Amino acid sequence: MKHAILWATILLLGCAPALAREPKEYDSDVIYEESKIPHYDLPPLLVTAEGKPVTSAEQWRTVRRPQILSLFSNLVYGRVPEPESPIKVEFEVKKTDPKFMGGKATRKDVLIRFSNDKGKAEMLVLVFVPNGKAKPIPAFMKHSFNNTHGRDFDAHPVHRGRLRNGWPLGQFFERGYAFVAVHQQDLVGHNETSFLDSIHRLFYKKGQSFPKAREWGVLAAMAWGATRAMDYLETDSDIDQSRVAIMGHSKCGKATLWTAAQDERFAMAISAQSGCAGAALWRRRSGETLEKMVTRFPYWLCRNAWKFVGHEDDLPVDQHMLLACIAPRPVYVHSATQDTWADGRGEYVSAYHASEVYRLLGKKGLTSESLPPVGQAIIESDVGYHMRQGGHSVDQYDWDRFLDFADYHFKNKK
Ligand code: GCU
Repeated sequence: MKHAILWATILLLGCAPALAREPKEYDSDVIYEESKIPHYDLPPLLVTAEGKPVTSAEQWRTVRRPQILSLFSNLVYGRVPEPESPIKVEFEVKKTDPKFMGGKATRKDVLIRFSNDKGKAEMLVLVFVPNGKAKPIPAFMKHSFNNTHGRDFDAHPVHRGRLRNGWPLGQFFERGYAFVAVHQQDLVGHNETSFLDSIHRLFYKKGQSFPKAREWGVLAAMAWGATRAMDYLETDSDIDQSRVAIMGHSKCGKATLWTAAQDERFAMAISAQSGCAGAALWRRRSGETLEKMVTRFPYWLCRNAWKFVGHEDDLPVDQHMLLACIAPRPVYVHSATQDTWADGRGEYVSAYHASEVYRLLGKKGLTSESLPPVGQAIIESDVGYHMRQGGHSVDQYDWDRFLDFADYHFKNKK
């Protein structure tokens, strides 16, 4: 019965995304207190599906990591099917502005076109390369809520060095980073429910008009887009392809982790308040849960994920395993005290458990299950973390720490 109600709600919200409710309306049954978190046992990271202990980097790389990625693909985010006919991909640098932000950087508007006999799609990727710095240069790629097509990326007319939306883009340039923006809605709608106009249709088999239960949802489509943007960067001689970090906030932070877990060309991942389906553990059921997520955003994950609503303990994975798939590449997790919907403690504990794999691979992970003091960032580690005072946003403090983390790994240790 409980399931019938859930599925009816999913269908209702799925058909009318405008009705999707705000988290506050769910507050009465949401767990926010540590004392109410149910007991849980995490699935083991270092034991294969066949029950064999994983004791070497080689076993991790060739056996356990592929098993985990396959579970995430088929049960959580959905896997990208093979298209029936090959997809033609074209890159076109549509515009180049060498005087962006008063000459601080060169902005390139790069159009990526996809086509096959099922249809066409395109994404507009913005690449900002600081002028006067040695090339090739390391870069941050951002899964972005800001639209690359509109005016979001215009430089602020008064405070040069910032975008209209307040981002300190000039700081990236000063500290020697290029910045690449990939808009989260280019290939798939924010709360896509039909999948008839999204990138998915280029992959449908004859007669198919909706993703199968194990096939990709919204977050997986975003991740696919970022990997295509990386394909472009591999052709751009301004960018050092061995030093590209992927980052994103909230929903975009979830997509960031799934991108980095799969695509090893990304040398670093930065997850800002990614929460549920991001860094936070499903089994804690704290803040947003699987049920809340699929009720409001039915297809961010694949349909198979619905089967675990209320049965999180049956999932053969939890999100510490997603972070572990990024190892040995550095990963940074950011939470904030008032962002309880994203379960900051769950994000930290997840990063702490993922550290077991970093250590196996000879890297430095988090060593304590207790959170560091608020406002005290862990930078000199392959698993970085900070909990900031405040709410659900990326603030100046956060940008500064992300850059510190990138400096530490991309520059100091070079
Ligand atoms: C909602 C959603 C979160 C998501 C957030 C965002 O609150 O429930 O999972 O992270 O939107 O993307 O800002």
